[in-house]
Amino acid sequence: MASTLVLGCMWGDEGKAKIVDYLAASADFVVRFQGGSNAGHTIVYGNQKYVLHTIPSGILYPDTTCLIGAGVLVDPTLIKEEIHNLEKANIDFSKRLLIDYRAGVVLPLHKQLDMENETKLKKSKIGTTGKGIGPAYSDLTARIGIRLEDLAYPEYLSERLKQLYTYHHKKLTDEELTKQIAELQDSWKFLKKYTGDVESILNDIANIKDKSILFEGAQGTLLDLNFGTYPYVTSSRVMTDAAGIGTGFSARRIDKVLGIYKAYTTRVGEGPFPTEIFTDIADRIRTAGNEYGSTTGRPRRIGWFDGVAARYSARINALDNAVITCLDVLQGLDELKICSAYKYKGKLYRSMKLHPSQFDKIEPVYESFEGWDADICNCKNKSELPKAARDYLEAIEDFLETRICLVSVGREREQTFTIKERKR
Ligand code: IMO
Ligand code: MG
Repeated sequence: MASTLVLGCMWGDEGKAKIVDYLAASADFVVRFQGGSNAGHTIVYGNQKYVLHTIPSGILYPDTTCLIGAGVLVDPTLIKEEIHNLEKANIDFSKRLLIDYRAGVVLPLHKQLDMENETKLKKSKIGTTGKGIGPAYSDLTARIGIRLEDLAYPEYLSERLKQLYTYHHKKLTDEELTKQIAELQDSWKFLKKYTGDVESILNDIANIKDKSILFEGAQGTLLDLNFGTYPYVTSSRVMTDAAGIGTGFSARRIDKVLGIYKAYTTRVGEGPFPTEIFTDIADRIRTAGNEYGSTTGRPRRIGWFDGVAARYSARINALDNAVITCLDVLQGLDELKICSAYKYKGKLYRSMKLHPSQFDKIEPVYESFEGWDADICNCKNKSELPKAARDYLEAIEDFLETRICLVSVGREREQTFTIKERKR
């Protein structure tokens, strides 16, 4: 068995779906292990654009089985919609999609709480996707949450729902309870055939020689609950080790960890972003890269490549290799910058160990690089890139202390090339 993990290494939207889609051509299983419908994974295939939120990005390949692990949150209404959209596109996956019965369930209450919390926080709101992610994970941690398997037991579910509403000091009338149970039973009728034991499947194939598993991360390490830019993070773990926690297939068994970085940086929602660009260069990159949220449609904040943050995430994820996406988006810019240190009160920091109250006041220190004019969308290997683009990639490698193995130069599957080990 061969296993690879594809992990977002910044604040999400690094182009993970495109890379998973590219690698899924040779994978038997593609597995999601954390997050929920806050993810927006876009794949362009032929003239079609597919946006997936909970279903793994391997779904377009007819022989790939897609698994959703216990660490993922499932919103029954949204996943049904996602399934219907794929059916409409004539993608047949009825026998190759399975959700772990332990997965957490997002309820309408969680979305309501998400919105209410954001309103209460006012100026210090997180800027969540509004999908109920924080409240649903919090409830699971507080042991008051609902799991997918509970939908099969309406009486038990009814008691749990009553407890949940009491816990949150919310009123639940008998009428509302009956309505919610009916809706969840309806969802269960639909989701039953897609529910099973993902942990067992993965551990059973662990010793089968010619099987391969691809783990698909959502969000990015700087949004990790413990190691991200807390409190401006998501509520799940977004690191190499999360693949084990979220599936029951130990991360010790994963052969290769690929960290995905964009050639520049983006962030949606609030929170520190040291290399954010406030000039018209940001608009230029946003337009060229179509940098609008796939889940919420919000314009993404744009910044230069942050070498300090990128090295931090490469380290804590023990990356084997890095993947650079959206290199083409930078073409035509005269100058490119990479942040090599943060300056706070005259002192230089090359790590992320600053308090959240200091983060907003740091000044990025940049190294400057030459841009290039040529269109690189059709480049098929590194040697076809202009020298400036090659130099830029090599500088990123030096910051990451990790070799780049794959580069994306466009949205199509074919606009991707591998890089062999470079001799130094
Ligand atoms: P993919 O998988 C980018 C951000 C939100 C917000 C913070 C918390 O497409 O890379 P949440 O709704 O999770 O409670 O919001 O995290 N966020 C993402 N940003 N891409 C994502 O997923 C994200 N998922 C959550 O914008 O700042
Ligand atoms: Mg996204």
